[in-house]
Amino acid sequence: MVAAWLRRARRVAVLTGAGISADSGLPTFRGAQHALWSRFRPESLATPEAFAHDPALVWAWYQWRRALVARARPNPGHTALVELEAAVPVCTLITQNVDGLHRAAGSRNIIALHGELLRDRCTGCGRESPCTIVASLADAPCERLEPDRCPACGARLRPAVVWFGEPLPEGAMAAASAAVRACEVLLVVGTSGVVYPAASLAPLARTAGARVVVVNPEPAPDDVARQLTGSAADILPALVRRAFA
Ligand code: OAD
Repeated sequence: MVAAWLRRARRVAVLTGAGISADSGLPTFRGAQHALWSRFRPESLATPEAFAHDPALVWAWYQWRRALVARARPNPGHTALVELEAAVPVCTLITQNVDGLHRAAGSRNIIALHGELLRDRCTGCGRESPCTIVASLADAPCERLEPDRCPACGARLRPAVVWFGEPLPEGAMAAASAAVRACEVLLVVGTSGVVYPAASLAPLARTAGARVVVVNPEPAPDDVARQLTGSAADILPALVRRAFA
């Protein structure tokens, strides 16, 4: 049924979260035993206040995550979404992920709601640049590391991600809202749906008349049109094959 919806659709939107990268070896934030927020406190690591209070602690944590991401590769779930984009007239990929794996896989029409982990932004002049990656930190994280400095103005660099309490990149939420309002099918893949404003997108799509399909190993809320239970790396390639092969 979902395959037929996708085949007939002229506009599809996809909302992804950390779960789509789980099969690339990256930890999710919630749920699993090794989920990031079961091991670390978001308030100590992912807020502007945390960075102001203890920049070396925050920087070390992000350098660890960057090293993990740098060695991760897109999985068949990411690849299936590239194929979906090629098969549907308008397909918009909205992601809460900062790992860059959708782009690495080849997706092009991406709205990155929470920024990009592998880029820095200068806290002084605002300039953005690719971050440094220390590969060994993936296996041997440090507790504290002094943040790199901006080569232009000397101020501290910070990761170019959205922290709790910060606004989303300009225009990102407006573009995402327009895409879900216009779509016939919204695929919600690998997100717990608890972080706003991204969490408002599925209800918005439903109100606008879209079919909301959840891909997740965990049960979805009752009001979705369809839940496909399992890992994104298994479900998405099979779904796209059924829809377009
Ligand atoms: P979460 O960690 O909250 O949720 C991950 C979801 O992925 C859960 O619903 C899991 O059941 C599901 N999942 C796990 N393995 C999966 C797999 N192989 N295939 C499909 N689904 C799987 O991640 P997000 O919802 O992305 O924000 O978290 C939202 C935001 O909270 C993040 O962007 C981040 C975080 O704090 C900021 O840092 C601002």
